[in-house]
Amino acid sequence: MNKHQPTLLVTGGAGFIGSNFITYFMKKYPDKLLLNVDKLTYAGTKENLNEVENLKNYHFIHGDIADEQLIKAIFNDYNIDGVIHFAAESHVDRSIKDATEFVRSNVLGTMVLLQAARSDWVKKGVLTERRFHQISTDEVYGSLGETGKFNETTPYDPRNPYSASKASANMLAKSFGYTYEMNVVISSSSNNYGPRQHEEKLIPTIISKALSGESIPIYGDGKNIRDWLYVGDHCIALDQIYHRAAPQEIYNIGGNNEKTNIEIAEKICEILDEIEPDIKEKFSLTSFKDLITYTEDRLGHDRRYAVDDTKLRKDLGWDATEPLASGIRKTVEWYVNKWKLPTP
Ligand SMILES: NC(=O)c1ccc[n+]([C@@H]2O[C@H](COP(=O)([O-])OP(=O)(O)OC[C@H]3O[C@@H](n4cnc5c(N)ncnc54)[C@H](O)[C@@H]3O)[C@@H](O)[C@H]2O)c1
Repeated sequence: MNKHQPTLLVTGGAGFIGSNFITYFMKKYPDKLLLNVDKLTYAGTKENLNEVENLKNYHFIHGDIADEQLIKAIFNDYNIDGVIHFAAESHVDRSIKDATEFVRSNVLGTMVLLQAARSDWVKKGVLTERRFHQISTDEVYGSLGETGKFNETTPYDPRNPYSASKASANMLAKSFGYTYEMNVVISSSSNNYGPRQHEEKLIPTIISKALSGESIPIYGDGKNIRDWLYVGDHCIALDQIYHRAAPQEIYNIGGNNEKTNIEIAEKICEILDEIEPDIKEKFSLTSFKDLITYTEDRLGHDRRYAVDDTKLRKDLGWDATEPLASGIRKTVEWYVNKWKLPTP
């Protein structure tokens, strides 16, 4: 890799969304140099990047975004012409148990990146040209009642330590845009689903528990609502926002697929009933739905998220194209193949 050539810095690219994004991006821009910095926490793995790891224009550094020396050295050593910042601790339940890593990686890590980028780009006289894209979540807006949607002007109202750390990071990014005229954009998306998500998250948990004949845990009454966005659609939106949004813009990215958790669980079970009848029989189940078990609710569980992404559709012409039914089916099939089920 020629370190003088303009290079896109991606953080957290060994995780779920980051790895889908890098794979998509490197196919679409085969000549662009891309550097991925990832700490490889329990949530990240180099296996997620098998498709790109041998490309000459892809480079990986195993490191922590909160490590100021390392991040400064990266900006010194490479010609970083933009940052897309995914790296974060991302699981709400873990943040409820202990928020320390969430503040360190999500807040301090974002600040270290912003400062290193700003300092390098000021030195080179390119501050306003180079872009810092902060990847965020609709969870920063808090929780909705039965109606309404979050738009880009909805005030932040985070309700758990994860969303509080993401809101803090966004506010730092926004402040660097206003204070120093850094070219910052922030995109907040709804719940992503698709291949390569860590097993602790709702959809992979439902699939793995079902396939092993264990109870499928669903919080509370199962009626918490999330809007679901296929990760491939998210990657396309990020590409458009990174390349085309005006400085300081904020965009919401939604899937227009509001579903209760129990609806998602039942849908997955129906697909598994159809594609894995032998496993269903092995566990003497009428349907995988028999395994669904309601558990004590998550502390401070946000009731409903829904995203208004009219602005993104109008300004950049993006639209989510993957219907939930086919997206969920593809996702289930991907996990079934990945876990190479033993024949019953
Ligand atoms: N998954 C979703 O539904 C969703 C929705 C909206 C926004 N987001 C945001 O998108 C981003 C990616 O989410 P994800 O689901 O892919 O997360 P993930 O947990 O699957 O991956 C996070 C990646 O970041 C890396 N990482 C964590 N701390 C790091 C640190 N200090 N230094 C370097 N690397 C570090 C991990 O090793 C991992 O590879 C996050 O910022 C998250 O807040 C996620």
